[in-house]
Amino acid sequence: MAKDKVILAYSGGLDTSVCIKWLQEEYGLDVIALVGDVGQEHDGLQAIKEKALKSGAVACEVIDMKEEFVNEYLTKAIAANAMYENKYPLLSALSRPVISKYLVEAAHQHKAKYIAHGCTGKGNDQVRFESSVSVLDPTLKVIAPVREWDLKTRAEEIEWAQAHGIDVPVTKDSPYSIDDNLWGRAIECGVLEDPWNEPPEDIFTITASPLEAPGQPEYVEVEFKEGIPCALDGKAMSFLDIIYELNALVGKHGFGRIDMIENRLVGVKSRECYEVPAGLALIMAHRALEDLCLERDVLHYKLSIEQSWAVAVYNGQWFSPLKNALDAFCATTQGDVNGTVRLKLFKGSCLVVGSKSVSSLYDYALATYDKEDAFDHGAAKGFIALHGLSTKVWAMKQLERKAKGTSADKALSGM
Ligand code: ARG
Repeated sequence: MAKDKVILAYSGGLDTSVCIKWLQEEYGLDVIALVGDVGQEHDGLQAIKEKALKSGAVACEVIDMKEEFVNEYLTKAIAANAMYENKYPLLSALSRPVISKYLVEAAHQHKAKYIAHGCTGKGNDQVRFESSVSVLDPTLKVIAPVREWDLKTRAEEIEWAQAHGIDVPVTKDSPYSIDDNLWGRAIECGVLEDPWNEPPEDIFTITASPLEAPGQPEYVEVEFKEGIPCALDGKAMSFLDIIYELNALVGKHGFGRIDMIENRLVGVKSRECYEVPAGLALIMAHRALEDLCLERDVLHYKLSIEQSWAVAVYNGQWFSPLKNALDAFCATTQGDVNGTVRLKLFKGSCLVVGSKSVSSLYDYALATYDKEDAFDHGAAKGFIALHGLSTKVWAMKQLERKAKGTSADKALSGM
């Protein structure tokens, strides 16, 4: 009888290579490895594929998800100025749903009943994979070998791998856990686990140390059409190419590093370092353009929508009615976000130093203090009287009661 099949999200690393053998041995499944190319650094996708087959996979599919990742996921992220806890641009959280989508598609194609991933039981990524899969096809079952197996340390895992004929690279194991894609890199573990330790310089590979960055500032102009980056320095480019170009340019100037304590969904605080040169610069530029183009109440309301969007996506709810509704709000605002922002890069900093837009709501005559001033200064008096009336009444009543000296008011005497 033919064996049941499992589609495994495969990275080429030790964990997922061990997963292949383990799924065969413990579950008796045929393993189909799926490698998602989301723009991560790698030593060759062909080599990863061969490794999967050598580790025992019956097939390995390498899928280029870069365009889709940018056009369906990062466009929505930029519309929402995606930033969990106001700091983390969600690079890992954004890649999981697109990979999950392909895992489910592959399961349908190969008539597999199972999907597997190599995440641990302590992180967010397991939640994102499993929540996404359960929405896309609730009949599929998920197996998480790393959460189940009894290999407690790296050494035990290597021993198991060697005993089962899996290639263990002779290169020294990185002490860090790294996840990356074209939106940036996430680095955790090792010495970073003590929040007092300064991140060692060598964890960063796509941003220069500000000390080593060029001694002269450089400017770049980013143009947006309906909220989506569409040109650099006047040259029309795809959003994907803009990301590649800005990663190099902004990274060279040492901007884009993040070092934070982050609240994981599973209740753990963790120390995370990131480098997201293009992502941070683009969100900064996009926000600046929104400042210019969005009506005040929309802009203010959008801030809370953005927070909710980031929390939902961080928590694995990419495919959810809440996230869809939040996307719809953001989408209605982006039609007005057209224009150009000038960024100045210098020694680890990135500043917005200019913005212009055909949809700008900035009105020189209203803003200026020069003689062209068209603002109605007289109207301010009545405006303030009514705007402040409610709190003024409150303050007057406090005073009256204090003057009467009732005991209830003694408690308020701190006023
Ligand atoms: N803390 C980030 C998140 O939850 C990054 C996780 C990256 N994964 C990793 N294995 N380093 O989205």
